[in-house]
This record gives sequence, structure tokens and C-alpha cells, in this order.
Amino acid sequence: MSIVSWCHWLQNTPFATGIRQSDLFFPLIEGSHIIALSLSVGLIVVFDLRLLRVAFRGQPASLIMEQFVPFSLPGFVIMFATGVLLFISQAEKVYLNPFFRFKLAFLVLAGINASVYQVKYYPKMREWDKSGLVPWGAKLSGALSLLVWAAVIALGRTMAYEL
Ligand code: HEM
Repeated sequence: MSIVSWCHWLQNTPFATGIRQSDLFFPLIEGSHIIALSLSVGLIVVFDLRLLRVAFRGQPASLIMEQFVPFSLPGFVIMFATGVLLFISQAEKVYLNPFFRFKLAFLVLAGINASVYQVKYYPKMREWDKSGLVPWGAKLSGALSLLVWAAVIALGRTMAYEL
């Protein structure tokens, strides 16, 4: 079975059809996908702006990370859960949409960038934070994060237009 025919089967399951044809669930899921942006990417943006010394310059980066980033995790869970439900409800159209494929690629890039930060810069964060200087690699990670999340959101919005 090809991926396209599997997606065709998936979107025609009673569960998927139920979401797609519901006047309540589809808008509720899509609305949650949009609102959870502020709770997920929105909080990461605050930290990235601190890394780039654009905002919260007077606050240690580690303090901003402790206060904001943990709260983004439930936001990302909602983003991924609602995203998967939105996908299931119209799998064939979404799978064939080039913007969706680019969006998934940028989501993977965002994940790699965040993992590199966690492995390379987070362990020593308290040390370099005391000096008040942000390592250039951490700044680069912050700048890349801003660009990649902007791309994910733009691709998500463009995709929604086409569906
Ligand atoms: C943190 C990660 C994500 C972000 C920031 C994000 C962002 C967005 C945005 C901004 C939209 C446009 C909403 C609108 O204005 O109508 C959107 C739509 C959509 N997203 Fe995501 N998304 C994420 C993860 C996912 C995942 C993991 C999937 C599926 C596997 C997904 C599937 C979709 C679908 C199918 C739509 C179109 C909904 C429609 O029919 O209008 N998203 N996303």
C-alpha cells in the first residue's frame, strides 16, 4: 500500500471523518493548534531574544530559561497532539501539500537545533552566564531557532490556505 493510499484510507476512517465533519471538534482542534503557539513557540522566542541580548538583558539567561522554557513543554504537547489530529482528519490532502512537507522538515531542524543547545551550551550555562557573555554558538542557536520557528509558522499558515 502506498503512503498516499494509506493516507486516503486514514482520512476515511470513522474517527477522521468524525473530526473533519464536526462543526465543533475541527474548529476546536484547529483553534487549540493556533492558541498553543503562544504557550510553545512564544516562550522559546522569549529565551532566544535573551540569548541574542535583544530582551531581558538585565536578567541571567539561565533564569529566563528556568522560568519560561519548562512551561513550553505542555504547549508543544498540545501543538503536536492537535497537529496529528488535524493531519488524520485530512491526511491525503495534507500529505500531498508541499508546504506541509517543508514544515515537517523545519520541525526536525528545530528539534536538532534545540538538542545541540541542550548538549553543548546548557550544561555550562551557569558559568558563562556569570560572565554576562553569551557564547557565539549559543547566540547562533538562538538566531536559528527564531528563523526556523518563523518558517514553521509561515508554512503552517500557507498550508492552511491551500487545504
Ligand atoms: C510546534 C509545532 C507546530 C507549529 C508551530 C505549527 C504551526 C501551525 C500554524 C501556524 C498553522 C496555521 C493555522 C491556521 O492559521 O489556520 C498550522 C496548521 C496546521 N498544522 Fe501545524 N504546527 C506545528 C506542528 C504540527 C504537526 C506536528 C502537525 C502534524 C503532524 C501539524 C499539522 C498541521 C495541519 C494539518 C494544519 C492545517 C490545519 C487546517 O486545515 O487549517 N502541525 N500549524
